[in-house]
Amino acid sequence: MKLAITGKGGVGKTFIAGTLARILARDGYKVLAVDADPNTNLAYTIGLRKEEISRIVPLAVNRELIEERTKIPGLPLGGAFNLFPKVDDIVDRFGVRGPDGVMLLVMGTVRNGGTGCLCPAHAFLRNLLRYLVVDRDEFVILDMEAGIEHLGRGTARNVDIMLAVVEPSFKSIETACRIKKLALDIGIRKFAVVANKISTSEEERFVKEELEKHQISLLAVIPFDKQIAYADMIKKAPIDYVPSSPAIKAVELLKKSLL
Ligand SMILES: Nc1ncnc2c1ncn2[C@@H]1O[C@H](COP(=O)(O)OP(=O)(O)O)[C@@H](O)[C@H]1O
Ligand SMILES: [Mg+2]
Repeated sequence: MKLAITGKGGVGKTFIAGTLARILARDGYKVLAVDADPNTNLAYTIGLRKEEISRIVPLAVNRELIEERTKIPGLPLGGAFNLFPKVDDIVDRFGVRGPDGVMLLVMGTVRNGGTGCLCPAHAFLRNLLRYLVVDRDEFVILDMEAGIEHLGRGTARNVDIMLAVVEPSFKSIETACRIKKLALDIGIRKFAVVANKISTSEEERFVKEELEKHQISLLAVIPFDKQIAYADMIKKAPIDYVPSSPAIKAVELLKKSLL
């Protein structure tokens, strides 16, 4: 299954992506978690050690690698470069193995401002994303920022489901609506919302009513638990720090719904 997790900043994408990755890996799935957010913190949520994390270089800023892969021998870079560079060894070379066997790949952002810019870095990351979603045979979880434009049509068709995370706020629901439109436009087949940080039944009702207005289905409700936020402050994986949290239990239910 290929899963993309999106939504407004701060709603809990990384918490859900990392926790889901750990739970699926415990179930025996091969899991590849991809951090495609500029604030690369998926590693902590998965539970990698500080020393391991400090050694990670996001692929987006690995100029040497990008140059090596996109350069056409004998030609200067910039004028002409390879649009379909070799990427099938990248997971083995740059992936980092975390607890429960989760494999993490830190991509960094693929930003092109919607201008159709085709710089070598963009070509490399776009091709890598295509490879991860189309050719890999494991559970791939993409932790993405709200912008999903860089998931080109050919790639998006292979994303089985896109989840937008919302919290009880108009803004995050607006973002989800915008993402839904984009997602369906580029060919993603299924779209659903996960409501996170829900503290009261009023908040749950608010989110449900807003989503109904936009005909968006709600796949899971995850309660607010300050222990989850605390785990973030001390850079511990929530699933290790508070395994019995109701929020973790809710992510387990989300996994069941997904499967
Ligand atoms: N269910 C929850 N209850 C309490 N705090 C949460 C919950 N989910 C996420 N958080 C906290 O909210 C903050 C943002 O979460 P994060 O996953 O980094 O969001 P995003 O990746 O969408 O920017 C973090 O401090 C995180 O620990
Ligand atoms: Mg994040």
